[in-house]
Amino acid sequence: MPKSAKTFFVHHLLQWNSNVNDRQMPWKGEQNPYFIWLSEIILQQTRVEQGLAYYEKFIHHYPDVQSLAKASDTKVMKLWEGLGYYSRCRNLIKAARLVNEVHHGVFPIQYEQLLKLPGIGPYTAAAISSFSSNAPFAVVDGNVFRVLSRFFGINKPVDETDGKKVFTELAQELLPNGNSAVYNQAIMDFGATVCKPANPKCEECVLNKQCFAFLYNEVNSLPIKMKKLIKKNRYFHFVLIRYKGKVLLEKRLQKDIWQGLYQFPLVETTTSVKPRTFNKLLTDGSLKPIPVNATVYTQALTHQNIHARFYYVQCTTKPILNNGIWVSEKAMNEYPMPKIVLQFLKNHHSD
Ligand code: ADE
Ligand code: SF4
Repeated sequence: MPKSAKTFFVHHLLQWNSNVNDRQMPWKGEQNPYFIWLSEIILQQTRVEQGLAYYEKFIHHYPDVQSLAKASDTKVMKLWEGLGYYSRCRNLIKAARLVNEVHHGVFPIQYEQLLKLPGIGPYTAAAISSFSSNAPFAVVDGNVFRVLSRFFGINKPVDETDGKKVFTELAQELLPNGNSAVYNQAIMDFGATVCKPANPKCEECVLNKQCFAFLYNEVNSLPIKMKKLIKKNRYFHFVLIRYKGKVLLEKRLQKDIWQGLYQFPLVETTTSVKPRTFNKLLTDGSLKPIPVNATVYTQALTHQNIHARFYYVQCTTKPILNNGIWVSEKAMNEYPMPKIVLQFLKNHHSD
């Protein structure tokens, strides 16, 4: 790769950043590592528009790492509710408590120390250390893969170890001395607003004169991904068991999606099951669930599609069930729940 291409890239990217980039986000220019960390964990698998409100909520409720470390799991999970990828939240809690104990409440800014915290990988460690103190670590996320693969014409798969290494080394090589905070933010903003996944703004792009993908009409074929995601279908049948104004909630403890969240007792099937055949599935013949209606709620996760139906059981004698907690219908909203359950509750609020 000619040196001039690299110089051109960095120079024009930084120029674009000073003269054109008008992207505003509350964490931009932030130097407090705790705030940077919150924003980066929230943004890991979440769009900026969706993440904004959560970022504001978190810094409002927990203005420093000590307050987050001292909060109860349920309270923090409740604040995270709706964002998905709940392991991020469980790691957030673990990391805050570790910082409180091991680092005496002072959030670390050194790359190697950051890597030791749960939920922090090379990307997040690079972001926190560079944004807080200009440490020389290049961020390498989806934006960076895309921009580099298109501009430099790199056809290595971005989802394989080999390819990742190539992009990481190039990103590190490009990083301008002493200016990593500005440069890292600039390349991410550029990827999000100009060199976007779909319909990039190539015509007005300041890099187009030397961009491989633009010049060779490869914009739509880069970056390359090897794995085509195959999604599993899961069929959930939630049963609202009601007794004397209370409902039964279960906490999800298994290593599975939504770990730590609460839900109504659940029967899962591997194929779609109609309400009429659902009753026959239950081993406890004393429960006769009535479908709330025919609605199937769906939620697409990264590796699976969830299809959920909801049923009611009104009990006149207290059912003998080992698991779960009885909660008054009013108090239900204090428990963090999966989005699909919240959607159902919203539609049937007064039932
Ligand atoms: N995505 C992840 N981190 C980001 C940041 N700091 N700015 C914009 N998008 C991001
Ligand atoms: Fe991306 Fe198009 Fe600019 Fe190339 S010309 S860097 S593909 S926006």
